[in-house]
Formats: sequence, C-alpha cells, structure tokens
Amino acid sequence: MRKLFFANWKMYLSDEEADALARAYAEGALSASVDVAVAPGFTALERVSRALAASKVALGAQDAFWKDEGAFTGEVAPKQLAALGVKYVIVGHSERRAMGETDETVARKAAAVAADGMTPVVCVGELKEEREAGRQEEVVRAQLVAVLAALPKGADFVVAYEPRWAIGTGTPCEPADVAAMHAAIRSIVGADAPILYGGSVDPKNFKPYLALQDVDGLLVGGASARPDDVRAFFEAFAS
Ligand code: PGA
Repeated sequence: MRKLFFANWKMYLSDEEADALARAYAEGALSASVDVAVAPGFTALERVSRALAASKVALGAQDAFWKDEGAFTGEVAPKQLAALGVKYVIVGHSERRAMGETDETVARKAAAVAADGMTPVVCVGELKEEREAGRQEEVVRAQLVAVLAALPKGADFVVAYEPRWAIGTGTPCEPADVAAMHAAIRSIVGADAPILYGGSVDPKNFKPYLALQDVDGLLVGGASARPDDVRAFFEAFAS
C-alpha cells in the first residue's frame, strides 16, 4: 500500500495561514509518492476543504463527539464533519487523553466516526514510565482492544502509534523500538489497517521510519504546520 503522510496542525495557524498552507499541500501532493491528509483546526475546516477540493489531499479533523446531534455545548458532531468532506478523524490523541479522554470515550468516538462513513485515526501510545517499566506493548494493546471492540465489523480504521513521551519533545522513538511496537500492533489489527508512527517526526529524521515493514505512514504534528518543513517533506517525497 502507498504510505500516508498525515498532518496534524493541532491548534496552530490562523485560518488564513491554514488556507495558504493547504494550497502548498495541494501542490506538493501532485508529484508526491505518498498519500497525504491534513487535519486543520475546526474553524479552518471549511476553508481548507475548499482549498483542497480538486486536489489529491484528503481532509481530516482532530476530534469529534460520539453523538450526531443534541444538547452538547461546544462539541462537534461527526455528521457535521462528514458534511464538510472530512475523510479522517483523529480520536484519542495523547494531548486529549492528557486532558481526560479515556479508552471508553475514544472507543465511542471511533465508532461514531465510522458510523458516519469516515475513518477514525486511533492514537495509542505509552507514557515514559510505562516504557521504562517494559509495559509499552501491554498499554497499547489495552488501548487498542477497547476501540476495536466498539468498531462495527469491517469498518476502516487507521492506527497511529504515538508514544506520549515522543510527542512535541524533539526526541522521537528509535526506529527499532517503533518496528517492535508496529509488529505487535499488526498482530492485533491484521494486515488491512494502516499503522502510522508519530512523535517528533521532521524532514531530517523521517526516512528510516518509512523503510520499516509495518510502518504505513507518519502522523506529523509541529513540523507539518511549518511551511519550510512542509516544503522539505514534499521535496523528499517528489517522485
Ligand atoms: P509532533 O506531534 O510531530 O509535534 O511530535 C505528533 C502528533 O501529535 O500527532
């Protein structure tokens, strides 16, 4: 399968900046050897959707609620995202787990996203102490099992392995450790689900990850929102 470069712009970029960067993605993706998706902030979704229409870049969102309608102030419904042309929705990002998201809420969100015809990007990953204690595979397995149990049979999903200590720290997980974890995840999810690596990926360090057998792509945060880094990624992906 073609590898996927998935950009998570987090709470960076004004809507104007997001629009301009989306146009750079649309152009870069024309000659890229990878599939590309971007997840802007909610307020920029409509603009970015327009900027990407007619391009090869898929639209993503960074979260969604688990109901499609109701008295849920401040939440965003999967149905609202689907109507904007969103294809992928990140669920269970560690920055949200750190703010109280649980395996149960992540599972409900993933199921709701799938029910509206979109693909959940399920983020999993261990804390530093858990890796130091050798518990990383056990932790990730528990996170995954909770979500898989909630997903409708046959639903498409993507897994993103993002060790929590590697996100936004400038210290990515060593490729050998990523290879071991992705093999463990593969044994749980099977051959069809793409498995992305994320955590301090940048244009200088990404290549060894994409060379690994069970790494089907990258989930890139900070660097994916920096125009210079984006240019460098697309230069490297030019086929
Ligand atoms: P980072 O974030 O690339 O800035 O480490 C990755 C992510 O949070 O998805």
